[in-house]
Amino acid sequence: MGLSGSGKSTLIRHVNRLIEPTAGEIVVEGNSVLALSLDELRKYRRTKVAMVFQKFGLLPHRSVIDNVAYGPEVRGVGHEERLEKAAKWIATVGLSGYENSRTRQLSGGQQQRVGLARALAMDTDIILMDEAFSALDPLIRSGMQDQLIELQQTLNKTILFITHDFDEALKIGNRIAVLKDGAVQQVGKPEEIVLKPANAHIEEFVREVNKARAIHVRSIMERGDVELCEYSVPMNARCEDVLPLFAEHEWVGVLDDDGRQIGRVTAKQVIRALARHSPT
Ligand SMILES: Nc1ncnc2c1ncn2[C@@H]1O[C@H](COP(=O)(O)OP(=O)(O)OP(=O)(O)O)[C@@H](O)[C@H]1O
Ligand SMILES: [Mg+2]
Repeated sequence: MGLSGSGKSTLIRHVNRLIEPTAGEIVVEGNSVLALSLDELRKYRRTKVAMVFQKFGLLPHRSVIDNVAYGPEVRGVGHEERLEKAAKWIATVGLSGYENSRTRQLSGGQQQRVGLARALAMDTDIILMDEAFSALDPLIRSGMQDQLIELQQTLNKTILFITHDFDEALKIGNRIAVLKDGAVQQVGKPEEIVLKPANAHIEEFVREVNKARAIHVRSIMERGDVELCEYSVPMNARCEDVLPLFAEHEWVGVLDDDGRQIGRVTAKQVIRALARHSPT
């Protein structure tokens, strides 16, 4: 995460070596990306990292399904199989019925979904997303974020997601790195960054989010039978009061007025609520 011009695109493009670094190293699964030969680099881009660009980067004269099937095609997957794969990913991103449309006939949000489906169809362990949702209007954007979070629960890929929007970073990130003037300011879990901003620059972002800290945990908790938690809070506690607990607990129990545990709340839920409700 970082403001415009902070160096996000520059940084992410090093990962698949669209930019050659002048210093330092890039290590993926123990291998130096800089040590790859031209052939190995081509293979690495085809099989290890897929990229979703800020401005879609689709092939305008191809149909949706041929765009999505592009990755498997380059990898030499047979016609039938790659169309089948492509259709599956198109359905996953909610575009069934558009398989044969030209991408330029689609709305921005739909094109963005094609971009995501295409990256997913590449079947790589790593996906690079450079402001992939930034051009979308707020409702569609929020829907795409939810979809990505949900997808990720089953895919478990390494997703490097770039955004200039702190709320978006809090909502979807497991670990966030904040960039400014080409330098990393802080790296940490969302709750670590909100609780302990490393400097004044990050404090400014956190201050905006703090306005949303008055939400009650009862409105965001997971209800139902859960294991008795080591630590519990009343259901009318505010996120503001609960947040510091996550420095030590992964989740805390939520108690009703009679002191019975009726559910629990996790750091991620609190952080997402803050991101969702902060004014922008
Ligand atoms: N090869 C390079 N050598 C020197 N400076 C560069 C190089 N590439 C980019 N820059 C500069 O680095 C800065 C960061 O650019 P970058 O595109 O990474 O920003 P960004 O964080 O992605 O911004 P945005 O949110 O607007 O996309 C810019 O001022 C740019 O001009
Ligand atoms: Mg950029």
